Amino acid sequence: MLDEEALAEVPSPCYIIDELAIEENCKILGEVQELSGCRILMALKGFTLPSLFPLISKYLHGTCASGLYEARLGRERFGKEVHVFAPAYDDREFEELLRISDHIVFNSIAQWERARPVVEESARKVSCGIRINPEYSEVPIDLWNPCARYTRFGVRADDFRTVPEGIDGLHFHALCQQNSDSLERLIGVVEEKFERHLSRVRWVNFGGGQLITAPDYDIDRLFRVVADFREEYVVDVYMEPGEAVALNAGVLMSTVLDVVHNEMDIAILDISAWAHAQDILAAAFRMDVIGGCGPGESKHTYRLASRSCLSGDIIGDYSFKQPLHRGSRLMFTDMASYSVVSNNMFNGIPLPAIAILAKSNEVRIVRRSSYEDFESRLS
Ligand SMILES: Cc1ncc(COP(=O)(O)O)c(C=O)c1O
Repeated sequence: MLDEEALAEVPSPCYIIDELAIEENCKILGEVQELSGCRILMALKGFTLPSLFPLISKYLHGTCASGLYEARLGRERFGKEVHVFAPAYDDREFEELLRISDHIVFNSIAQWERARPVVEESARKVSCGIRINPEYSEVPIDLWNPCARYTRFGVRADDFRTVPEGIDGLHFHALCQQNSDSLERLIGVVEEKFERHLSRVRWVNFGGGQLITAPDYDIDRLFRVVADFREEYVVDVYMEPGEAVALNAGVLMSTVLDVVHNEMDIAILDISAWAHAQDILAAAFRMDVIGGCGPGESKHTYRLASRSCLSGDIIGDYSFKQPLHRGSRLMFTDMASYSVVSNNMFNGIPLPAIAILAKSNEVRIVRRSSYEDFESRLS
């Protein structure tokens, strides 16, 4: 990890992405592909860092996109296969999507029927699929539950009578941060509800939401589940993890700008939950900070708060062995995925810079935020 001297050179706030950790994750995913015969796409929605695409693309089969811009980035900067799924496509974007995608997944049979003439006329052969809704999920938080009641995602078994002509594949995504036992149970439900369709397609995409690179992930079970499925239905299996690619591979470094007191000590940081870690506010997520623990567990307790005007923009209560003061640096761990791709400039707060901690232990700043970023997205 970074020594003090290198750290002093890094601007704050800054994501520091660990190239070695990304490569270790990719090696695990590469091994899964080799031993199970599945194809793994990186979900760009979870982790997008074009500077590292040359490294990641050595291991993975391609990218999966949520729409035109991600698909284009995957095509132009990552190469290999580009897959796309969106709950609905804008007609104005669809022709370009057809020119750059290898797989397009439709959210309903009606959407496929509407797009079919354009797809069939296209000079480029694109493999099309339908997203199915297994109506099964073990995700406890609705914000992250793709199969929650009234979900807009996918066709339910009752509405899926036969595989429509021209459709090559089926796609489902119902997990979030889960292990392979959840995948096995999910597949059991998919087989129960969609079995007769599974051997009538060429590929099945199991979606993302599996923490394949987590230390406690049961990888042998994954090998077995994928191998059995491929053998049973004679299909290509795709998976599209996002978080697993960047798991434990980056910190968000921030600085204390001031400490104020109002019944308790409150440290005001140069980051914001609202702008940089929305899950804290939306889903009671808690970031881990190096050297910090729960409030009251160590000698000095602080509320870590943001520099924004939003009253509830609170990162959380933590305690530390040493007191915090203006200039103290805090490192929030496991912040490479989702935060980098979804941050915003509310209040004109600069985006965190992005640095890569290279395998050589050198730190390369690949992105600095500037006033122009703020101005250009508004006018
Ligand atoms: C369709 C689809 N595929 C893949 C992913 C990636 O999931 P994760 O980053 O949890 O692996 C998501 C996440 O929302 C998704 O909606």
